[in-house]
This record gives sequence, structure tokens and C-alpha cells, in this order.
Amino acid sequence: MATNAATNINLEQMDVDATIHAFTSLSEHAEIGPHIMASGDGIYLTDNKGDTYIDAMAALFCVNVGYGRSEIADAISEQAHKFAFFHTFAGNAHDQQIRLGERLLSILPGHMSKVMFASSGSEANEANVKLAWMYQHLRGKPEKRKIIGRDMGYHGVTTIAASMSGLPLMHEPFGLPLPGFLHTDKGHYFWEGRPGESERDYSKRMAANLGVLIEAEGPETVCAFIAEPVMGASACVAPAEGYFEEIQKVLKKHDVLFIADEVITGFGRLGTWFACDKYDLTPDLMTLSKGITSAYVPLSASVISEEMWQVFADDPDKTLFTHGHTASGHPIACAAANANLDLMEGEDLVGNAARVGDYFKAQLNERLGEHPLMGEIRGDGLMLAIELVANKETKEELNVEWDCSHRLFDLCLEEKLISRGYFGHNSSSFAPPLSITRDEVDEVITRFTRALDKLTDELVREGRWKPAA
Ligand SMILES: Cc1ncc(COP(=O)(O)O)c(C=O)c1O
Repeated sequence: MATNAATNINLEQMDVDATIHAFTSLSEHAEIGPHIMASGDGIYLTDNKGDTYIDAMAALFCVNVGYGRSEIADAISEQAHKFAFFHTFAGNAHDQQIRLGERLLSILPGHMSKVMFASSGSEANEANVKLAWMYQHLRGKPEKRKIIGRDMGYHGVTTIAASMSGLPLMHEPFGLPLPGFLHTDKGHYFWEGRPGESERDYSKRMAANLGVLIEAEGPETVCAFIAEPVMGASACVAPAEGYFEEIQKVLKKHDVLFIADEVITGFGRLGTWFACDKYDLTPDLMTLSKGITSAYVPLSASVISEEMWQVFADDPDKTLFTHGHTASGHPIACAAANANLDLMEGEDLVGNAARVGDYFKAQLNERLGEHPLMGEIRGDGLMLAIELVANKETKEELNVEWDCSHRLFDLCLEEKLISRGYFGHNSSSFAPPLSITRDEVDEVITRFTRALDKLTDELVREGRWKPAA
């Protein structure tokens, strides 16, 4: 166990003594302690005790090129030696940031026009809301301020981003959401679709509900709608057929902007560069992060359309956009992003995500589809999930108080597999590095199946569940 020589305290204890962790029970952490990762290679991670795991989550849906890529490490080092930092305030720039902006526009949907950098997805969403507000202000519609997110959506943790998110556990401790942040249906056909209702009809109903909300609030007060094309934090919920087509019609009708939060789906995760390509979305704003650098260093981007840009460009008062962070467009982060995109393009990782993603989903269906606890196998590309139910036929839910999702996560860890546990629903996700091979997918599913079988046995032994007769 690693120790601090000066104090002879082990790293686990130092962590408990010194740090507050993200999305962790602060009181419980002192009892449980951290899991300390030490190194990575491809899809594998090794912890400080020497145990090696398959990371089937690419950390938090983000290490797209996989661990240990010296090409990105070298680019970071070279940039740090050459020129570590200058800011981008007041029109200042540097070559890596300029090249990256131009390069992003060459792969983004053609109607997107300008990119602003920050460091996290939350910050990029924050900037997108301010861009949307300022756009309405410059159009002479300053009262168009309300933002609509979705139940169970996730857009980050800063106050605006958390307000747009639809997870009650992110609101309650902080008195959020802020006034003017509203939520519409989640958009999950498996749970919300009515008996006999087609996906198309469900999508129309979801869009109609959004229309009713906008009309009730007054369209003249609604600025923007934000959605993750495939929901990440609620376990890879892909849109029902026609969902975004119908939603976009309602937004157009009411002159409401569409922010596509592609923090996870961007940069190849769905087997296309962006979800916009896959689902034919024409957002006014896009939010990017995670895969932009494969998380080797923090970077994010807010992107606006040419139509929005024209309003800023034509501003006769030349209003300052009073937003930005010291590290916005950091040269080292932009150098990492450029090296990351070289790898993605050079190794056709987007194509690999499409091919291996299809294989992964097909194998999940073949090997786990008939499992008595299996409710839904869902997602697209390399953004997949399963959800457990007590009864496959009736979709009766497994009691969430049994916390099957986290129990499954722990059982996967015993199998040396990192999956993902969720609060409030019985799902588990798979979002490995986009470099994963078919053989590695087979191994992921083998380990996961063992963990699921153990959970099944435990539930039977505890007298909580038994297979339907
Ligand atoms: C869709 C989406 N948007 C925004 C964010 C927030 O990004 P960050 O954690 O970098 O602030 C996340 C993070 O997981 C996300 O999944």
C-alpha cells in the first residue's frame, strides 16, 4: 500500500483526511475510502494494489481513444515546453486554439458557425445559456429567458447546468432548480410508452406535451430547450423513432432554441462524429467536452449556428460578451484535442465504434436477452445499457431500495470489470473506449454475465425475487 514517507500515512487515509469527492456521500466516504487507480493501457486500468480491470465505461464516457496514448502525452508535453499559456480574453489567441476551432467546424454539422472553449461540460452549457440569453436580448426579445430541460436529463453541476438537469438528487440539497428552469418528459419509450402505442405516436405525444408546456408558460418567455441526444446519466436512453423530428417542429413553431448537449455523444461514441449526424438534428447550439481530448486534459466547447452568429455579428452596439474563464481555450488542452482528433481520424475510431457497437448490442441481446431479470437492452454505438426488471412480461420494476444497480456494479468489480451503478433505477451501462475490439467485448459480456448471475442468485437466496413460473 502506498504511503506518505513523511507521515507514514497510507494514500487511502490521506485521501479521506484531505479531499471531498464528486457525487460521493461525504459522511460515508470516511468509512469506505477511495478506490485509487494508478495506470492505464487501452481499455485496461490498474489500481494501486496491482489489480487490473477492464474499464467498460471509458471512465465517465470520456477516454475515447483509450488509456496510455503517448501521442497525446507527447503533444501535451511539447506544447507545455513551447508555450504553456496565454489567455483568450479581449481577442487574444494562439495557434492550437485557432486550428482546433477551425478543425471542429470541419467535422460539425455544416450550419454550425463559431466555437467558444471552456474546461468542463458544465461550463460549456453555462456559456450556451448565456449565448442564448444574449442572442434573445440582441433580437429585442429579452423576456425570452426560460430554459426547458427533461426529467432525468444531466447537463452538469454548476447552478445553471444543475437547474437544467432533471435529477431530483441534484436539486434537493441546493434549493435548485433556479426560477425559470422547467422540465418536460424524459422521453424513454420503454417506460413511458403506453400499451399498444407505436414509437412514432409516443414521439408525437412527447412533442405535444412540450408544446403544451411552452404554451402554458407563454412562448414569448421561453428561450431554449436542452437535451442529450442519448441520455447518459440515466443510462443510455436513445430517442424513440421520430422523437427529435417531432420535438424540433414544436421548437421551430414557438421560436425556441435547441441546445444539443453532445458532451457524451460527441466525438464518435455513437459511431458517427456527432449524434446530430445520426439523428438528423439541426440544433442552434451544441455542447461538447469529454471525447474532445479523450479527457487527457479538461476541455469543452460551446458551438453556435450561423443563424445565431449573424445576430451577434450585426450588433450595432458592439456589446461585450462578458463571459469566459481564465483557462478558456488553454493551449495545452487544445494541443491535446488536436492530437486526439489525429488518433480518432488516423485509426478510424468512429467507424470502429459503429461496427463494434453493433456487435456489442447484438451480443448483449444474444447472450443476455433471455435472462429472467432482463428488461431492456438499449442504446446506440458504444453507448449501451441494460435495465433489470422483476417481471419481463409485465415490466414490473425491481424494488429500487434493493439498490441492484450498485450491487451489480460491486459484483462487476469482483470480476475486474468497471461498469456503472445508478441511483433510482436498476440499470448498468457500457461505454468503453472506442478502440475496443470484438474479443474484448466478448470478455466484457462474459464478466458481466457472471456478475449478473451472482446478483440473481443473491436475490433468490434473500427471498426477494424468484423467476416467474
Ligand atoms: C450530457 C452531459 N452534459 C454535461 C456534463 C457535465 O460535464 P462536466 O462533468 O465536464 O462538467 C456531463 C457530464 O457527465 C454530461 O454527461
